[in-house]
Amino acid sequence: RVAGPCVLVMFGVTGDLSRKKLMPAVYDLANRGLLPPGFGLVGFARRDWEDEDFAKVVHDAVAERARTPFREEVWEQLLEGIRFVRGEFDDNDAFERLANTIRELDEERGTGGNHAFYLSIPPRSFETVISQLKRHGMTGHDSSHWSRVVIEKPFGHDLESARDLDEIISSAFSPESVFRIDHYLGKETVQNIMAFRFANQIFEPIWNNHYVSHVQITMAEDIGIAGRAGYYDGIGAARDVIQNHLLQLMALTAMEEPTSFDAKQLCAEKTKVLAAIQPPDDMFAQTCRGQYVAGRQGGERVRGYLEEDGVGPRSRTETYAAVRLTIDNRRWAGVPFYLRTAKRMPRRVTEVALNLQRAPHLPFSDTAALGTNAVVLRIQPDEGVTLRFGAKVPGTQMELRDVTMDFAYGSSFTEASPEAYERLILDVLLGDPPLFPQHEEVELAWKILDPVLDFWAESNTPPCEYPAGSWGPSEADEMIARDGFIWRRP
Ligand code: BG6
Repeated sequence: RVAGPCVLVMFGVTGDLSRKKLMPAVYDLANRGLLPPGFGLVGFARRDWEDEDFAKVVHDAVAERARTPFREEVWEQLLEGIRFVRGEFDDNDAFERLANTIRELDEERGTGGNHAFYLSIPPRSFETVISQLKRHGMTGHDSSHWSRVVIEKPFGHDLESARDLDEIISSAFSPESVFRIDHYLGKETVQNIMAFRFANQIFEPIWNNHYVSHVQITMAEDIGIAGRAGYYDGIGAARDVIQNHLLQLMALTAMEEPTSFDAKQLCAEKTKVLAAIQPPDDMFAQTCRGQYVAGRQGGERVRGYLEEDGVGPRSRTETYAAVRLTIDNRRWAGVPFYLRTAKRMPRRVTEVALNLQRAPHLPFSDTAALGTNAVVLRIQPDEGVTLRFGAKVPGTQMELRDVTMDFAYGSSFTEASPEAYERLILDVLLGDPPLFPQHEEVELAWKILDPVLDFWAESNTPPCEYPAGSWGPSEADEMIARDGFIWRRP
């Protein structure tokens, strides 16, 4: 799977994402031999840069973050196709220059007119950039060449704005030319949810409400907002990751088997289950939002959210969000799914944990130390799968305790996992859509989340406080305790 000749145009090249993820990913693809010699990379930004300045930025980003070793000959080849166009998004001349630059690259590199436009820019600029691309004739495609657009989340801030955004995009690009990035879908461990479920016989019989008591999907981060107040404040944890990453994890965990893994079939199964997810029926009891206050993390004192640079002193933006959702279908009726995410937790960990019901009868006198069985899909950072079950403690008594059986990527596979962005950028260039959410999925996710966000917005109380470095507010513990469960502390 090597991409054909093409030009990748990146908007937002002065941003964090470009430097930390996108540029290194492009280099790693080239280094792995997955980009063709006829590849061009164009940066577009306001900075007063020449091609060489932009090339240096790419070079530094690669030196700092690439996963594969630096090889001069790979860099030299990439460098030949690197160009920079300076301009504002509303500047017609700049887009004219962009069109010319691309045309020149097409000729030099023999790209056949194939172009991908990566919009790593604030959502408020999507409309301007897309209409500029259209106005300057860069959105057309036919059987001989393609033109694709890549959009980074957030896809709107609620259902209505997501629909508006989709309208803008579809005014210029056909549905199969639009690639929405949810980088979780590019992670190996996330794709493995499908392999785990549908390549095996042992898990399917228990993957339902006859055996599973509840599911906990956790995405905990130890970092704060890491200088991203401009983006994060006003957005918050639920819009930032529950709307996309966590609901995608839930959909992959709960969906039925697709007839194939092509984009259409996969989307059909995901939308079916997303449409069956019910927003909490008691918002007060089944949701919780929090905001970190100063605390200790990794032995150091860290400041609270309201003290972070760029955050309004009275901000009510949540940095912790938990919701209890249910799925109205035969497989999952009665099984609560708890989704939680937060900044400034004790450690960085993402996992999907299916907790099983207790055995209907336990013929033992002492079961105090015995928990319930669990299947834990460890998404990151310690990638793998854990099965938890009870075992006899060696000794003269029938004493029981929980033990675990672990699969770790590191010990079973020698191949290193490619970075999510590498996989996704390659798929864009190949025109391979299964790992990109479709607009229907985006809409359904907002339908689930909008009522929660409205409830929080209308509520008179601020988010619950939790100290940085803790597992979240006590109100969230109470929320899950109402159902008789406790949060995992992975
Ligand atoms: C992004 C969010 O989508 O995912 C960030 O906007 C978050 O707030 C990041 O930090 C986490 O990604 P990962 O891959 O490190 O889990």
